[in-house]
Amino acid sequence: MRIDIITILPDLMKSPFSDSILKRAQSKGLVDIHFHNLRDYSTNKQKSIDDYQFGGGAGMVMMIEPIDLCISKLKSERDYQEIIYMTPDGETLNQGIANTLSLKENIIILCGHYKGVDQRVRDLFITKEISIGDFVLSGGELAANVLCDAVIRLIPGVLNDETSALTDSFQDNLLAPPVYTRPSDYKGNKVPDILLSGNFPKIEEWREEQAYQRTKERRPDLLD
Ligand code: ADE
Repeated sequence: MRIDIITILPDLMKSPFSDSILKRAQSKGLVDIHFHNLRDYSTNKQKSIDDYQFGGGAGMVMMIEPIDLCISKLKSERDYQEIIYMTPDGETLNQGIANTLSLKENIIILCGHYKGVDQRVRDLFITKEISIGDFVLSGGELAANVLCDAVIRLIPGVLNDETSALTDSFQDNLLAPPVYTRPSDYKGNKVPDILLSGNFPKIEEWREEQAYQRTKERRPDLLD
């Protein structure tokens, strides 16, 4: 999978890709990340990419031309299955969206700033708008990092058995059950006996029941 990220702050975004699972996914050749600094596509001397909004009002708007130049250049080089815009008024990210995106070959992610992008960018180029929750971040960069992490770990071959996504919360619309490790008794707080029993079918049954109970208590909407 190839991910092209269009941003005015590439340096802000790089560190999550240089550690742990995302780093390994790149060294295994399973994902290829490319950053494009939108300022490199500015057509004026000041390298500006935003301007005042028509009709007045506080806040700058990202201009269409640099974004058009960047996206058009990328599209002339390969086909993209999705051009995503990170925005708080997009569809809220969930595990299903992450699963679907993890199977794409090439995607572009555009990070917004200020008041966002000129509406014509959204009308002409964007195929999917994603929010990571009902709150407003300073820009789309951290949201794009969250999206990339959620997607990349699902690309076949990225996770090994130890880190398998199959038992994650949400993977089957249930929250994950509680987990424990040594010691089995910490200051009188004991691990449930069943987990020490060695009876694996019973342990699996217990985990399913715990996952169901936890989901019912905390996220009954997932059971609908
Ligand atoms: N940009 C600013 N806030 C955002 C959010 N919650 N999700 C996605 N992109 C954003």
